[in-house]
Parts: sequence; structure tokens; C-alpha cells
Amino acid sequence: MGENQSGMVIPKHVAIILDGNGRWAKKRGLPRTMGHKEGCVTVEKTVELAARAGIEYLTVYGFSTENWKRSSEEVGALMQLFRYYMVRLLKIASSNNVRVCMIGDRTRFDADIIEGINRLERETKTNTGLTFVIAVNYGGRDELTRAVRRIASDCAAGRLCSEEIKEETVASYLDTAGMPDPDLLIRTSGEIRLSNYLLWQLAYTEIYVTDCLWPDFNQEELEKAILAYNKRERRFGGVK
Ligand code: IPE
Ligand code: IPE
Ligand code: MG
Repeated sequence: MGENQSGMVIPKHVAIILDGNGRWAKKRGLPRTMGHKEGCVTVEKTVELAARAGIEYLTVYGFSTENWKRSSEEVGALMQLFRYYMVRLLKIASSNNVRVCMIGDRTRFDADIIEGINRLERETKTNTGLTFVIAVNYGGRDELTRAVRRIASDCAAGRLCSEEIKEETVASYLDTAGMPDPDLLIRTSGEIRLSNYLLWQLAYTEIYVTDCLWPDFNQEELEKAILAYNKRERRFGGVK
């Protein structure tokens, strides 16, 4: 975990539940999809801010396993935005030395989106700066269920011995295998819940909720979150 010039501890891994795109649009009398469009611009800006701040991992919740419940118009618009932003992200990642990873079950997406995701990961995997993780068709319970399925099949095939399963073993079967757990979780738009995000990984993460709607999130908001994080005392179950 690094410190910047002002002596502030920079969290190594920041996770974000970007929320409030719909409300941002409604406030302006615009369709919800305009909020998502603006939200994508904010994601791009946040990637650059995080890289500049010295954050090593940034994990954003782009689309949950429950978001399929929304209208077909809204889901369709979100898929179109993914298509568009995946291409832009490839350029941004390449020019900012950013490695992009996707977590979640990508198999439910159309073939061209899956190919786009694979390409983004493939072409940025040797970048050494910020690791930008996007959770798409992601649900913490779904991730754990998929992990349990693979653990069970490895046990049945004799590749894994059930008595030897440790917490590290479980972590290594999750989509986030190899990544550190988030230090700070930011949720925008005031809702105080996890909405099925990173259920295993957030066990000891500091949670910061702001009323700011996601499209309005900016450098000042990120700095406020990091300042709040610096005021927390992390005990991890121990005594200080
Ligand atoms: C977050 O904004 C983006 C996604 C969940 C895809 P919302 O669309 O949830 O915005 P609100 O919560 O309705 O304002
Ligand atoms: C969480 O936001 C999912 C994403 C940010 C992708 P939601 O807007 O879907 O969460 P709820 O419905 O308010 O819990
Ligand atoms: Mg929401």
C-alpha cells in the first residue's frame, strides 16, 4: 500500500459499486440509458484517476447477474454500450499501461461481446500499471456457486483432496484468483447494501457510501473516499 506526497495511504485495491445512473438521468428528464452513457464516461475518467493516484487494482461493478431483470430496452442499450466501450477501453488501456480483466460469467453474452472481452484481456495482459477489473454478469453467489462446482469436479477427478481445502484453495477458484482483496469499497448514490458484489472478497473491506450519483463522480469524490479510508482503523478481528 503506497503513500502519496501528502502522506495519505493509497488503498491498493479499490472496488466500486457504480450506482445512480438511472436517477441521474431522471433528474434531468432524460431516458435511463443516457445515464448509463454518461456513467461510461465516468468509468473511463476514473480509470485514469485511479492510475494517477497509484491505486493498483480498481474493480467496478458494470452489470450484475440480477440486472437481466431490467427491461429488454435497457439491457439491450447496456450491451451496445459494452460493445462501444470495449473498443475505446482497448485504446485507453494501451496508452495508460492498464491491464484489463473481466470477472463474472461471460458465457451468457453474445459471441462478439465474449470475443471483445477475450481480446481486451489478451492484448493488455502484459501491461504493468493499474489492473482494471470489470465485473460483468457478475454475482458473488454465482461466482461462489461456479467455484464450488469446479472444486467438486476436481475432487471427483482426484485432482483435489477435500480434507486439504483451505481458504486459499477456495480463493484460488474464484474469478478474482491472484488478486488482493479490496481495501476500500465505494458505493455511489447512497444505497447501503452490497447487491451481491464480491461477497467473499469484501470480508474485511472498509465501506464508504456517498450520495453522489455515479455520473457525477470525480477526482474530488475519489479523494474524499480515500481521506475517509485513512481515518478508519482496520483491526481484522484483532485488538489495537
Ligand atoms: C448503475 O446505475 C448501473 C447499473 C446497474 C448497470 P442504475 O441503473 O442502477 O441507476 P439507478 O440505481 O436506477 O439510479
Ligand atoms: C448494483 O446496482 C449492480 C451494479 C452496479 C452493476 P443495482 O442498482 O443493480 O443494485 P440494487 O438493485 O439497487 O441493489
Ligand atoms: Mg441502481
